[in-house]
Amino acid sequence: MLDVQNIRKDFPILNRTVNGKPLIYFDNAATSQTPQQVIDVIVDYYTNYNANIHRGVHSLSQEATDAYEQARIKIQKHFNAKHPHEIIYTSGTTHSINLVANGFSSLLKKGDEIIVSALEHHSNIVPWQMLCERTGASLKVIPMNENGELMLSAFDALLNDNTKLVFVNHISNALGTINPIEYIIDEAHKVNAAVLVDGAQSCPHIKPDVQALDVDFYVCSAHKLCGPTGVGMLYGKEEWLNKLPPYQGGGEMIAEVSFEKTTYAALPHKFEAGTPNICGGIAFGAAIDYMNAIGFDNIAQYEHELLEYGTEQLQKIDGLKIYGTAKEKTSVISFNVGNIHPYDIGTILDKMGIAVRTGHHCAQPIMDFYNIPGTVRASFMFYNTKEEIDSFISALKKAIMMLS
Ligand code: ALA
Repeated sequence: MLDVQNIRKDFPILNRTVNGKPLIYFDNAATSQTPQQVIDVIVDYYTNYNANIHRGVHSLSQEATDAYEQARIKIQKHFNAKHPHEIIYTSGTTHSINLVANGFSSLLKKGDEIIVSALEHHSNIVPWQMLCERTGASLKVIPMNENGELMLSAFDALLNDNTKLVFVNHISNALGTINPIEYIIDEAHKVNAAVLVDGAQSCPHIKPDVQALDVDFYVCSAHKLCGPTGVGMLYGKEEWLNKLPPYQGGGEMIAEVSFEKTTYAALPHKFEAGTPNICGGIAFGAAIDYMNAIGFDNIAQYEHELLEYGTEQLQKIDGLKIYGTAKEKTSVISFNVGNIHPYDIGTILDKMGIAVRTGHHCAQPIMDFYNIPGTVRASFMFYNTKEEIDSFISALKKAIMMLS
C-alpha cells in the first residue's frame, strides 16, 4: 500500500497554485514531476562537484565521474542489463531511437523490411522512415483495432525472411495500451529480426527485465520517471552495440585520432561523443532509486486503481467517448466530449488549475484511425489521488456546460 499523502510531500510543485487554484497535475505522460530527493541531487552536483568527467585528474572531475558511472550501474541493475557498458546515456528516447536508426543505415539494403506498429509516437515512426529513404528498405505497419490493441495475427502475417527490424512501444503514449512485447520479441526473433522497444511510457510504471525479455534495444527518458529532462538511455545487447557504427563523432568517443585514421573507444563511450548531461545522468540514477524505494508493484497497483476510478467517473458523463479501451492498459485516459474541441476543454481546465494534454499527442496516425483531430488526455502517476480525480470531473462538467 502506498502512503500517498506522505509521498506527495516529496513533490514541492504539488503545493503550488495555478490560476489561483491548487494544481492538479494530470499531464504525467508528457513529463512526470520531480521529488525533492532528486532536486537535492541536482543542487548538490552544482553546489559541490560540478566538473567535466573522464578528463581530469583533479578531485572534482573524479567525483563527478564516479557519480556518473555509479548512476550508469544503477540504470543497468534497474533494467537488468548484463553489463554497464550496454547502457548508453542519451538526451532521451528520441535521441536513442535516432542513434539506432542511424546505425542500421549501413546494415540494410533494398528489399529489407522494417515493421512498426500503428500505435507509435512520431519519434518511433519518422527515424525509421528516414532510414528507409536512405537504404531502400520498406516500412510495414502492424494495424490496431478499435480498442487500441495491436492485431497480432496481422503482425504474424507481416513477418518474413526480409524482416530485419521490429519497433514497437511498450505502452502507447496516446492511449495507454500495454503491448504484448514478449510475443512480439519472440516472433521477430524466429525470423532473425532485431527488436527495439520504446519504453518512454512504460518506465514510470513497469520495471522491465531486458535479459528476460531478450530484447535487442530498449530505450527511455528520465523525465518520465521523476528524473530531469534532457537525459535518457539506450540499452543495447553488447553484440548489437559492437556492430553499429558510432552516431556522432567528437571527443570522448575515440581511442586514437590522427589525420590519417581515427579509432573508436570501447562501449559505452563509442556512442557518447561530447560533454554529456552529467548532472542529468546522476539525477537519472537518483530518480531510479526514488521509484524503487516506493516499489514498482505498489506503483502499478495504485495507478491501476486510479485508472479504474477515473474511467468509471468519466464514463458517467453524457457524450464522453474514451479512446483506448485495451484490456491491458496503464493510467492514461484519452477522451473527447461530443464535438467540443479538445483544446477548448484543456484551456478551461487550466483556468481551474488542472493540467492535461490536448492534441494529437505526437501520434497522428492514431488520431487518423479514429478520424479525430486529437483528444484530451489525463495521465496519472502514483502521487495523484482519487480526490483530485473528483475535482477534475466537476471541473470537466463545468467546462462542458460552458462549451455546449
Ligand atoms: N511524448 C510525450 C507525450 O506523450 C511528450 O506527451
